[in-house]
Amino acid sequence: MTSGVGAPTRASISARTLRTDRWWLPPLLTNLGLFAFVAYATVRSFMGKWYWVEDYGYLTPFYSPCLSESCLPGSSHFGTPLPELPGWIPLGFVALPFLLGFRLTCYYYRKAYYRSVWQSPPACAVAEPHASYSGETRLPLIVQNAHRYFFYVALLVSVVNTYDAVVALTHGLGVGNLILLTNVVLLWAYTLSCHSCRHIAGGRLKHFSKHPVRYRAWTLVSKLNVHHMRLAWTTLGTLVLTDLYVMLVASGAISDLRIF
Ligand code: FES
Repeated sequence: MTSGVGAPTRASISARTLRTDRWWLPPLLTNLGLFAFVAYATVRSFMGKWYWVEDYGYLTPFYSPCLSESCLPGSSHFGTPLPELPGWIPLGFVALPFLLGFRLTCYYYRKAYYRSVWQSPPACAVAEPHASYSGETRLPLIVQNAHRYFFYVALLVSVVNTYDAVVALTHGLGVGNLILLTNVVLLWAYTLSCHSCRHIAGGRLKHFSKHPVRYRAWTLVSKLNVHHMRLAWTTLGTLVLTDLYVMLVASGAISDLRIF
């Protein structure tokens, strides 16, 4: 090994690590959390049912926007420009690749899965198993540089999800509405706390004093940005919770608690 911990300039230690604490626990928990979300989202995306509650206008974010003629009547808030789809194509396929791309290339998630899945390195002072390191200069990791473009699409999807939540309010108010609204607020917080958003707001400026509006925007985004990791995990949880609630109400397993 000629790079990393095996480089000739590094101390020659044969043990992978001398750490005796439970350094493997955070990567393990990250793996479990990410795997649970991916498994749930995959199953739900391919299920093709229980995504729309007609009586209350609840649409799960996993199927939004629903643009195909296969979508249940009323669930297509933006029309059905696409024909019927075979069952193996998820009904929310228009937004899903971009949302996945946005999350996968997110600076925080990179840190999380580079350590847990890639093990590069799994923890401080623990040698990584790879012999060489090419960073994000080659395929597939060079795609990470597209994060800022995924950000623009994620903004659009947040607008779509907000529209869905507002449309549901025209049917009255129930616990489902509160869940949809909470999910949307947190999605906005996660999206706006993005590092790319922070750069768009205040990057490439020499003098903040000459750009007070951008300075104000950058200050606000920076305050959110501090919580980006927490928001990344919280929104995974709220996405699952929102979808689960819509699924349970749509399938008749539970009734929505109506407030008025
Ligand atoms: S850095 Fe996490 S969403 Fe952009």
